[in-house]
Amino acid sequence: MVGNPSAPADVHTTRQAYNEIAAVYTEFVKGHLDTAPFDRAMLSVFAERVRAGGSGPVADIGCGEGRITAHLNALGVPAFGIDLAPELLAIARQQYPELSFDEGSMEQLALDDDSLAGLVVWYSMIHLPPERVPNVLNELYRVLAWEGHALLAFQATDVPAAALASRECARPHTVEAFDHKVTRAYRWSPERLAGLLRDAGFMVHAQLVREPEPDERFQQAYLLASKLR
Ligand SMILES: C[S@@+](CC[C@H](N)C(=O)[O-])C[C@H]1O[C@@H](n2cnc3c(N)ncnc32)[C@H](O)[C@@H]1O
Repeated sequence: MVGNPSAPADVHTTRQAYNEIAAVYTEFVKGHLDTAPFDRAMLSVFAERVRAGGSGPVADIGCGEGRITAHLNALGVPAFGIDLAPELLAIARQQYPELSFDEGSMEQLALDDDSLAGLVVWYSMIHLPPERVPNVLNELYRVLAWEGHALLAFQATDVPAAALASRECARPHTVEAFDHKVTRAYRWSPERLAGLLRDAGFMVHAQLVREPEPDERFQQAYLLASKLR
């Protein structure tokens, strides 16, 4: 699918947008994990579960410049990266020459069935038109080994002010486009994405929603799931 002229137009747009902004994006995320305790916490839980399950490769799908791939390796998880954008992959390889980074799309992974002990999709599914997300979740399920773990991070939709005022955390099960700085993106109701994960066969173990940090506009969500019924 990557570089494939028949790939949907949005795939080319996303790839091009990240290629053009690769150096700026790398600077933007530099050191970010050091000041992101929830990110580190969720990655730690994921890593602990993967390590407990024994050996096997872990894919960081939509790895960008490789910071999460490197962090997972530092946590003892043998992660490699996959991304659409060759310019980001070139930076990833330069920054982390000991790790492996491959070009590819989450819509059609060049990976065998049941081949991964874990996979992370860290703010990368956000660029996919929502109607194609169920197929991606099927693809993630296909490549994950039995009892393998999946961790997703993404921007959450808002809980309406009226619901907050009534102290009912009633978040509509919506998905909506937002003006991401790089290219078109979508934020999801965590409940809705969790439902789609279940539809694809995953068991969802945890859903965390946190308030935005000062440099963020939206609540942020994490879903931890596994290929297990
Ligand atoms: C917001 S960045 C996140 C990068 C990295 N996960 C991080 O947190 O630093 C989104 C990344 O997803 C990649 N991406 C978008 N759509 C993709 C797809 N269909 N398959 C693989 N990677 C994709 C982009 O190229 C970009 O590197």
